Amino acid sequence: SPNKITSICCIGAGYVGGPTMAVMAQKNPDIKVTVVDLNAQRIADWNDADLTKLPIFEPGLDQVVKEARGRNLFFSTDVETAINEAQMIFISVNTPTKTYGSGKGMAADLKYIELCARQIAKVATTDKIVVEKSTLPVKTAQAIKSILNHTGNGVKFQILSNPEFLAEGTAITDLIDPDRVLIGGDQTPEGKQAIQALVDVYATWVPKAQILTTNIWSSELSKLVANAFLAQRVSSINAISELCEATEANVEEVAKAIGMDSRIGSKFLKASVGFGGSCFQKDILNLVYISKSLGLQETADYWEQVIIMNNHQRDRFANKIVQTLYNTVAGKKIAFLGWAFKKDTNDTREAAAIYVGDRLIDEQANISVYDPKVNAKQMQSDLNYLNTRSEDQNKTYLSTESNPYDAVKDSHAIAVLTEWDEFKTYDWQRIYDSMNKPAFVFDGRNLLDTEALESIGFIVNAIGR
Ligand code: UDX
Ligand code: UDX
Ligand code: ADP
Repeated sequence: SPNKITSICCIGAGYVGGPTMAVMAQKNPDIKVTVVDLNAQRIADWNDADLTKLPIFEPGLDQVVKEARGRNLFFSTDVETAINEAQMIFISVNTPTKTYGSGKGMAADLKYIELCARQIAKVATTDKIVVEKSTLPVKTAQAIKSILNHTGNGVKFQILSNPEFLAEGTAITDLIDPDRVLIGGDQTPEGKQAIQALVDVYATWVPKAQILTTNIWSSELSKLVANAFLAQRVSSINAISELCEATEANVEEVAKAIGMDSRIGSKFLKASVGFGGSCFQKDILNLVYISKSLGLQETADYWEQVIIMNNHQRDRFANKIVQTLYNTVAGKKIAFLGWAFKKDTNDTREAAAIYVGDRLIDEQANISVYDPKVNAKQMQSDLNYLNTRSEDQNKTYLSTESNPYDAVKDSHAIAVLTEWDEFKTYDWQRIYDSMNKPAFVFDGRNLLDTEALESIGFIVNAIGR
């Protein structure tokens, strides 16, 4: 068909663009897929012969890259050439929450998206389909369209919204076997043709019935709403966990009992120290900001409460540690098991550990962290980003160990911040023997076997029990 895509470019080689394009290339050997990024180190890491050096850690990613890289999957810093060669361009750059000006702390910062649009407009000499892949507020497609149509050189553009629903840690299986693929576009003949071109790319591995096509607004909004609903479930069960702690109820029992109602469903009911990740908070803040801008105050307040609850859950966890340790943690070593926002990823964006750590450092605790995939530099930079105190002070209070037994040695308490499977397999007797007594465990993920720990001698605090 004349619309058959043979060349794709993706701008942004991060957590979304990298794995998504790797799978797309793996499943479409006839399409040349080039992933570009301004960050030369990142591109070098994607091209590293040693697959353990890939810039992001995702189970199974290395095998997909191994199969497709050099065949029809390429990583490059030459953004302009890749744009010009491609018939279809995915925009997969980061869209952090604004840290300045109007909408500060709430609206998405679209400066990287706008730069991409301007670059595409400048470089393109043939018609292009531009696909928004990054998580974006509703109406972004309109902004991109306006930039492309007003600074271009007579080239025709179609804009599609194709939100990413992959979760980190399971990105490859989510991409290979998605619940659905959502593609939004203009409902004009040209728009529908562009939608069909992208449907065809996915149809090589996703069943047709799972590929939904909508108008562009529905697609953009669905992404925000999906994440808002998921986050809301976590905040809902976390709110109940506080109630459980104040009563004899057990949040795991409650979650199981309600989850068996097919109308509620059992997933995403795991009480925790709070959700993190690059999406949940940002998307809800976007939803709140858009609602407010449209004068929908009650809708804005309703969703904002999900964030308020999440902040509360993190504070509550930190406060419980302080209170339990006789209201003083100053000068005490507290070990963190886990720093990533969830297991099986090295991503730390919005991780609960950052906020709990910050709060405990306010109380002058010495935090010693072990995470299987996050390095010391990343932890320091996460803490520094909060701007609570000087970088030097953060360095004195936060240390990182590459061995869990070193992290817990001589500590007064252990806090589990991430649900890494390996924490369950440790020699907990050895850990107990190396700690100050009484030895406390604060299990922010309800991961460990409380009874087994108590029989060793630990005093265990879990969520919602
Ligand atoms: C509810 C619970 O479903 C049931 O398990 C419990 O034992 C009693 O309370 P009920 O009130 O009989 O049952 O009806 P339900 O079907 O839950 O509907 C409650 C209200 O929600 C109705 O007014 C219904 O119209 C409304 N609703 C329900 C919606 O507006 N949208 C929906 O998607 C579902
Ligand atoms: C999320 C969405 O799941 C995904 O569809 C979207 O594309 C991006 O945002 P992600 O942030 O990678 O994915 O991870 P997710 O598994 O959703 O977890 C988010 C946070 O919620 C994590 O911190 C996790 O630990 C927490 N969580 C999740 C809970 O605390 N309890 C749960 O029951 C589920
Ligand atoms: P996400 O989770 O959305 O994938 P990341 O921060 O992991 O976010 O990845 C986004 C990537 O986009 C970064 O590697 C960044 O360097 C890249 N990027 C941002 N703006 C541009 C641009 N104008 N051109 C090329 N790459 C860009």
